[in-house]
Amino acid sequence: MNQRELFLQHIAQTSPAPLALEIVKAEGCLLYDKEGRTYVDLIGGISVANTGHRHPKVLESIKNQLDAYLHVMVYGEFIETPQVQYASLLAENLPAPLHSVYFTNSGTEAIEGAMKLAKRISNRSKIISFKNSYHGSTQGALSIIGSEYWRNAFRPLLPGISHLEYGSMEALNSIDSQTCCVIAETVQAEAGILAPSNEWMQALRKKCTGTGSLLILDEVQTGFGRTGKLWGFEHFGIIPDIVVLGKALGGGMPLGAFIASREIMGSLSEDPVLGHITTFGGHPVCCAAGMAALKALLNENLMDDLKRKEDLFRSLLIHPAIKTVRSFGLWLAVEFDTFEVNKKVIDHCISSQNYRGDINGVITDWFLFAPNCLRISPPLTISDEQIKKACEIILKGCD
Ligand SMILES: Cc1ncc(COP(=O)(O)O)c(C=O)c1O
Repeated sequence: MNQRELFLQHIAQTSPAPLALEIVKAEGCLLYDKEGRTYVDLIGGISVANTGHRHPKVLESIKNQLDAYLHVMVYGEFIETPQVQYASLLAENLPAPLHSVYFTNSGTEAIEGAMKLAKRISNRSKIISFKNSYHGSTQGALSIIGSEYWRNAFRPLLPGISHLEYGSMEALNSIDSQTCCVIAETVQAEAGILAPSNEWMQALRKKCTGTGSLLILDEVQTGFGRTGKLWGFEHFGIIPDIVVLGKALGGGMPLGAFIASREIMGSLSEDPVLGHITTFGGHPVCCAAGMAALKALLNENLMDDLKRKEDLFRSLLIHPAIKTVRSFGLWLAVEFDTFEVNKKVIDHCISSQNYRGDINGVITDWFLFAPNCLRISPPLTISDEQIKKACEIILKGCD
């Protein structure tokens, strides 16, 4: 069997039509396949590779950590320098009181931890989330995602959850003194990049404070510079009680985190002791990689040029087939009439065998809850030339 056949035979499949590209190397904003083709990566592992694939500082940090130790003990027992240093750097770059970091293995696991923490602190069970939100695939995270289609097949899920209309002022009236927490993406990603108004975000913050409900912001996709600021919530002038991170947090390695005040987080260490534990959460190699990526993001000022790159994409993506382009930072949703049209454009981009020269194609896909929208969330290091070439290929696909 060739590699593709082995993939289909032995790798558990998540859809009937996987992309099944065989990538042999990734560097910066480019992916290289087995056939010798080069692609501009407009997905970036879904907002993971914000500093580019295999950033040299990330590689160096991983190599150094490999020479010291890998896993040595379950999370929270030993003083592991990469964890401690990375948590300190995150705290330095987050507003008070978000200074206590709980590292996990993934975004969904961080969501689970945040939900448990909110229940533990508030002694309430009612949870509010929003329609068209995505928070992960484990059962707690699945209970709060905003799509009946995905929830329905896996019942029973967590009880006491309401899914409100994102951005609706009226919906905020459902938050009351029985509400344990409200969980929202700062900007809805899989809905096709849907940003709320400042007024709504501020009203949400106010309502949570007024009812004593914890505000949990999921920054798994909005974090680490994607929106032009380090954290998405900075755009709205609010601070959540718990922030959830993942994806770019690990610099290409698996890492998640939920972050709160020391006071709130302290509740997980007693009554019951070990109230939330993980073997591999905050793996030292992942923390070393993530810290190097965050340092690179800050030291190389990768957010400074973002607005110009966003505008460049917007100025090039004009075509009768494109209904609209929504964006929030270097994060764009190109909307077509239907999924079928979008899929044709995506297939053209990926299988652009016709393109000769340095770049042969573009890697892109659609959004979970907006299948008629094409995803653009490249490494923040993408060059103008790569943007132009990628847009040229997308527009050819539109033709
Ligand atoms: C906004 C958001 N939250 C949470 C998750 C879950 O993260 P993970 O896939 O690492 O479990 C995702 C993953 O796509 C996400 O986009």
